[in-house]
Amino acid sequence: MNDMSFTERAVANTETKITARGVQVYYGENHAIKDVDVDILDKTVTAFIGPSGCGKSTFLRCLNRMNDTIDIARIEGEILLDGEDIYDKRVDPVQLRAKVGMVFQKPNPFPKSIYDNVAYGPKIHGLTRSRAELEEVVESALRKAALWNEVKDRLHAPGTGLSGGQQQRLCIARAIATSPEVLLMDEPCSALDPIATAQVEELIDELRANFSVVIVTHSMQQAARVSQKTAFFHLGHLVEYDDTDKIFTNPSDPRTESYITGRIG
Ligand SMILES: Nc1ncnc2c1ncn2[C@@H]1O[C@H](COP(=O)(O)OP(=O)(O)O)[C@@H](O)[C@H]1O
Ligand SMILES: [Mg+2]
Repeated sequence: MNDMSFTERAVANTETKITARGVQVYYGENHAIKDVDVDILDKTVTAFIGPSGCGKSTFLRCLNRMNDTIDIARIEGEILLDGEDIYDKRVDPVQLRAKVGMVFQKPNPFPKSIYDNVAYGPKIHGLTRSRAELEEVVESALRKAALWNEVKDRLHAPGTGLSGGQQQRLCIARAIATSPEVLLMDEPCSALDPIATAQVEELIDELRANFSVVIVTHSMQQAARVSQKTAFFHLGHLVEYDDTDKIFTNPSDPRTESYITGRIG
């Protein structure tokens, strides 16, 4: 499959999953995100690119209220998931994060077995009614994360005993076990070697069939390989958001062009 075919498939039948309007984030006096508006599509991989410190991780964390856990962070504006305000007082952030899952830069499996890492979310959210059902959910998540064949004979071995790439796929399995609708990934391949990176990138393309995926990456090559939409951030602004092909071949903003040609960043 070439990149063109990914893009063409993505353009059909996609709906807005997340709408952000006028989003500002402050860390104390530091105005880290400045008036960001964006519509993130369902069944699409969206890449956030831009120089270090431009606010990619901060904005990503707005999408599942992970900034709530940072004392000095303050957010203004509106973020809607399927039209519902995720910052509404009635929304439980723990429930929200089951719907909007997250995978971090460094693989961070729990110090538990492979099975228990994946079973954890469905258990605490009471998503299964029997042990057999839980086993099915675990198997299905491990299959979707392209890890099942490698671990099916050692489900009760510790997750931390896997290779780095396998651990990251375990974290992806853990995130998708609660049947999220959106998967946020913050530089998920930065601790992986090229082979594991290629496996995770392939997996991201497959996940798009079922989820809205948002990936922060400092690698423009990775953004070009895996995403259909790209958002370029610079100094807290969302400078440009468009089809990935357009961003990398014919950007509208001179700042985007400078970044992709290597003049800034
Ligand atoms: N937990 C935090 N506490 C205080 N400031 C933060 C925190 N995280 C990020 N920042 C600041 O917010 C700005 C954007 O950072 P970040 O979102 O991490 O950028 P990126 O992911 O693009 O490298 C930077 O000025 C950074 O120092
Ligand atoms: Mg970051």
